[in-house]
Amino acid sequence: MFEQEFQNLQDKIQEIIEPYQKICDSRLSTVFDDGSRLSRIVGYSLHAPGKRLRSVLHMLMVEALGCDLDKSIPGALSYEMAHTASLVHDDIIDNASMRRGKAPVCTEFGLDAAIVSGDALLIKAFAMIAELAKTDISRKDLLELISCTSRMGLRACQGQLLDTELSSKLQHITIKDYLRMITLKTASLIEGPCEGAAIIAGRQNVRIEAAQFGRNLGIAFQILDDSKDLFSCESSTLKGRFTDLINNKPNIYTIWALKKTSPRQKQKLQSIMSGPAPCSADADHLFQILQQSKVIDLTFRLYQHYLKKAGHALSSFPDTTGKNRLQQILAAMSSWPGRS
Ligand code: IPE
Ligand code: MG
Repeated sequence: MFEQEFQNLQDKIQEIIEPYQKICDSRLSTVFDDGSRLSRIVGYSLHAPGKRLRSVLHMLMVEALGCDLDKSIPGALSYEMAHTASLVHDDIIDNASMRRGKAPVCTEFGLDAAIVSGDALLIKAFAMIAELAKTDISRKDLLELISCTSRMGLRACQGQLLDTELSSKLQHITIKDYLRMITLKTASLIEGPCEGAAIIAGRQNVRIEAAQFGRNLGIAFQILDDSKDLFSCESSTLKGRFTDLINNKPNIYTIWALKKTSPRQKQKLQSIMSGPAPCSADADHLFQILQQSKVIDLTFRLYQHYLKKAGHALSSFPDTTGKNRLQQILAAMSSWPGRS
């Protein structure tokens, strides 16, 4: 439905982040490479093709704040590992069938291996941060970074639990509940790399703004992810379509539609939501309900609102290549859904 638009957005973002993604990928290939069974299982998820968005944002933010890119590498690897750990565990919770275009770790290697490899990734994430002690970072800043990263992880855990809690009462939750959940679950793992960058760059004076940028971008990113879950075709998501509906997960469109639509449409929506995987007639009907209830328009507006807030957070930053690239990412995201 928005297939071409999703593709256009992906291509635009890819072009901006590619050089940074390549650095990240080449450094990632040097961890968990000792041939052990643990490394093989961890490598299966870590070395699978992800966007490396959190790492790239960390690198760009470090660069935006006038600091040498080299100093961003340990943090970049650490955030990617923490993110991958969250995906490995999330796929167990959600009983997912696809991740990064492949079977999830829990399906490929079993539940025990998935739990342990997620743990290993988290432990290694903190070990990577410890690597920064070899640089000229002050002891105070290093401790700040550890505490900022821990807070980020704990907030993501709170969000993950809230997600499960909200899933059991989808008919009754509000957009406010939803936004709180995604701010914790998704945005904190994007806010962390951006805030961490301000610490690494020794720019505590813009730490709040860097965090705000990441938080607002993270919220918009999750809204986009919800859009892909409903509107993108299976082959292009790399993690399956309608997974939110199938697993009873909060998705902004369905949460909002349950509040806004007519009683008759609500009944139809509830039957699609509680049934098996939607067939193509269900998908068409769902789209019709979302359009008639104006939920699509409302969601697009909310998405743009968070992108704008992310843009404002950068306004006091000096003009640098990094800032320019961060703005390019925002501009690319703002151009979605566009007209194709
Ligand atoms: C997926 O994040 C998890 C969400 C919070 C939506 P990404 O879409 O960034 O996953 P990868 O790293 O590119 O696979
Ligand atoms: Mg999930």
